[in-house]
Amino acid sequence: MGEETRRGPVTGRTWVMLVVVVLLASAIGIALGLAIDWFPAQGSTIASKIDTFWDVLLIASVPIFVGVATVVIFSIWRWHMRPGEEELDGPPTHGSTRLEVIWTALPTIVIAGLCAYSTVLLLDIQDSPARGTRVVNVVGQQFAWTFATNENGKRIVTNRLVLPKGEAVQFKVHSRDVIHDFWVPEWRLKVDAVPGITTKYSVTPSKTGTYQVVCAELCGLGHAFMRQFVTVVEPAAYAAWVAKQTAGAGGAGAGGTGAGTGAGGASAAQPDGKQLFVAGNPQTGATSCGSCHTMKAAGTSSQTGPNLDEFLKQDNAAGIREMIVSPGKEIAKGYGANVMPPNYGQTLSPQELATLVTYIDKSVHGGKQ
Ligand code: CUA
Repeated sequence: MGEETRRGPVTGRTWVMLVVVVLLASAIGIALGLAIDWFPAQGSTIASKIDTFWDVLLIASVPIFVGVATVVIFSIWRWHMRPGEEELDGPPTHGSTRLEVIWTALPTIVIAGLCAYSTVLLLDIQDSPARGTRVVNVVGQQFAWTFATNENGKRIVTNRLVLPKGEAVQFKVHSRDVIHDFWVPEWRLKVDAVPGITTKYSVTPSKTGTYQVVCAELCGLGHAFMRQFVTVVEPAAYAAWVAKQTAGAGGAGAGGTGAGTGAGGASAAQPDGKQLFVAGNPQTGATSCGSCHTMKAAGTSSQTGPNLDEFLKQDNAAGIREMIVSPGKEIAKGYGANVMPPNYGQTLSPQELATLVTYIDKSVHGGKQ
């Protein structure tokens, strides 16, 4: 008989208890969820909106999870089969229209509400920084980012992104090879870099500091190391940086003037060895050595590839040249093959290659540059 009462219909008192359990557990779950610091610092004007959205999602989903889990656990406890009941069957029941209406309507309302919220938020975020503001072209390739912008009519190409605080910037994102994803966690926005098309997003950095630019799309062996930096500075400091970057960048032509123009510091037509090492040649697609390799003289510290100060110690200029042009010939112990781009022989001009080899040779063998 005891069995009988335990399996009878759920009484009003049990219902009240279940509701109290769900409410209590939801309150605890929401409090814990909101107490956790999920994200890095808010570095853009829209970051707080994204974080609020996250909180709303959390508040909406915890009670649903708790409610479902409570019903499941209660049902298992109350109606599981006991020894000797193998042959028994439950009472025959037909569907409950009222119940079905409720369990269809409730999720529909919740999901429609969240969809509407996220759509409005997305449109708002995409619109917020005015178009026609500063444009930065971002180029992703295995396994480095290059950033190009125009300031005072001059093109600045770097592998470290520098931006002024409080000024909207639009990124036009490209890829040279496979799909990458341009992401600065502090800004809360990311967009894929897709070969053949230009993707965009706009953001207004609101906090000075240095943040990581992360590739958020698995793109090959070096994916995890495809990280560079963005530095957000006050507008005055940005102007100074621009002045420094554009100083001496005289005429428009880079190409054929060669080395013969040697009039003072005015000619920056040919990047020097250190510039090539640190920034590569984005015009032709040559990745920078420094984004993957540590070399003391250049001040780089990435560990995607071997530390050149050690790896190239035994090599002369010809050997270093060979390593750059045919990186597959000798793979350093502990590093993967096919990680280093194999096309430096094409992307660097013979002159650039010579400059780079001389620079690396001097650097790893203690010469000054
Ligand atoms: Cu580029 Cu992952």
